[in-house]
Amino acid sequence: MKKNKDYTFKYNQNLGRNGWLRLTPAYSVKLVEEILGDDNLFSEKKISSGTVFDPFCGTATTGIVAAERGLDSMLYEINPFLYWFSTAKGQNYNSADIDNQLKHLNKTLYSAHYSQYCKSWTPPMKNIERWWNSVTVEQLGKLHEFLIEEIGRPTIQPNVSNLAWIAFARLVIESSAADFGHISVSFKDTCNSYEEAELLSLFVKSLEYISESAKRPLKGNVKIISGDSRDVCLDDKVNYVITSPPYPNRISYIRELRPYMYWLGFLNSGEEAGELDWAAIGGTWGSATSKLSSWECDTNWFMPTCLTEAVNKIKESDSKNGKTLAKYVLKFFYDIYLHFKNLTKNLKDGCELYYILGNSSFYGNMVHTDLIVCEIMESIGYENPVAKIIRKRNSKKELFEFQIEATWHIKK
Ligand SMILES: C[S@@+](CC[C@H](N)C(=O)[O-])C[C@H]1O[C@@H](n2cnc3c(N)ncnc32)[C@H](O)[C@@H]1O
Repeated sequence: MKKNKDYTFKYNQNLGRNGWLRLTPAYSVKLVEEILGDDNLFSEKKISSGTVFDPFCGTATTGIVAAERGLDSMLYEINPFLYWFSTAKGQNYNSADIDNQLKHLNKTLYSAHYSQYCKSWTPPMKNIERWWNSVTVEQLGKLHEFLIEEIGRPTIQPNVSNLAWIAFARLVIESSAADFGHISVSFKDTCNSYEEAELLSLFVKSLEYISESAKRPLKGNVKIISGDSRDVCLDDKVNYVITSPPYPNRISYIRELRPYMYWLGFLNSGEEAGELDWAAIGGTWGSATSKLSSWECDTNWFMPTCLTEAVNKIKESDSKNGKTLAKYVLKFFYDIYLHFKNLTKNLKDGCELYYILGNSSFYGNMVHTDLIVCEIMESIGYENPVAKIIRKRNSKKELFEFQIEATWHIKK
């Protein structure tokens, strides 16, 4: 089994809207395309009607691929930045509005007014100097303030100005010392210095790319809902669920996304970061970890045998952190159970479900996500849950990504 990069976010980099931001949590367009089946007129395996639901939409990969094929989708996301980004990514834009904005920003950013503009802003991020050096922060802060004056802040309402904010988000990462060579973001040894001209040129280049791809209309409708997938409540029942929930591996989406979230105003303090992470499945950043220690599991839920075994082994394997990590794993799967249980009322008879998930290991003790999820699904009444390995995740030989498939039939 290979580390197939085609099944990660790397595959999406130049694929129109799906290449707008490089976000580690995103899965590959190819995965969704393969699930939807060959998009050719005469293909037998092809999903060509019905509504698709993604309860953990992240960057809306599922919704965009579905919409490009003319399928309508509904997506849930709990992270406010990803909710905003997905909403902007899933909208159709007017080409004339896009061209006008590009022309206007090109004119004003290269004017005497901009070069003499002296406002700047620094986001309240801890250890900001690890991300950008002082020259770059100053220049990013200047562009930030200028954009607010020219186009206003990011909005949830459809507005072409969101495209410029997405270009700004790209710039924030391109000019940083972030290193994406690992699962979780790390830092290069040095931060480059970006002067005004270089930064503006990077910004305009990104804006041109984003603007051009935003002109290509989406055939299907993408509806994003800001909500918690442990308690899904949709207006209409759906035919397909295609998704990738968080994995039980302690990756925090708030931690990974913090540069975007601070710069774009979706996060204002470390305290808020902990709160947002606690609200998400699998969050353990900052105060979320201490909240875990007082969390108690409902003792009446169906707990798979292999989960009980893994939790007990993790608890006993390390006297310092074992108890907390065992609770982390338990809460993760309890939340996944709540999701599957409450999801059923939103599913049409015969609904097909496709979940991409990874396993993990704590102190050498395997957490068999594939087996645990299949057992949870079966206990709720999903039919024939099966897991197949789709990819080896990293150099550790036991870490894989799985595709879990099942069907739902309404009980008579
Ligand atoms: C693996 S990522 C999904 C990535 C997505 N497939 C993509 O291509 O961008 C999991 C997502 O679930 C979201 N999430 C975590 N807990 C959630 C909850 N309770 N309700 C809704 N979304 C949640 C996270 O914020 C994250 O964006």
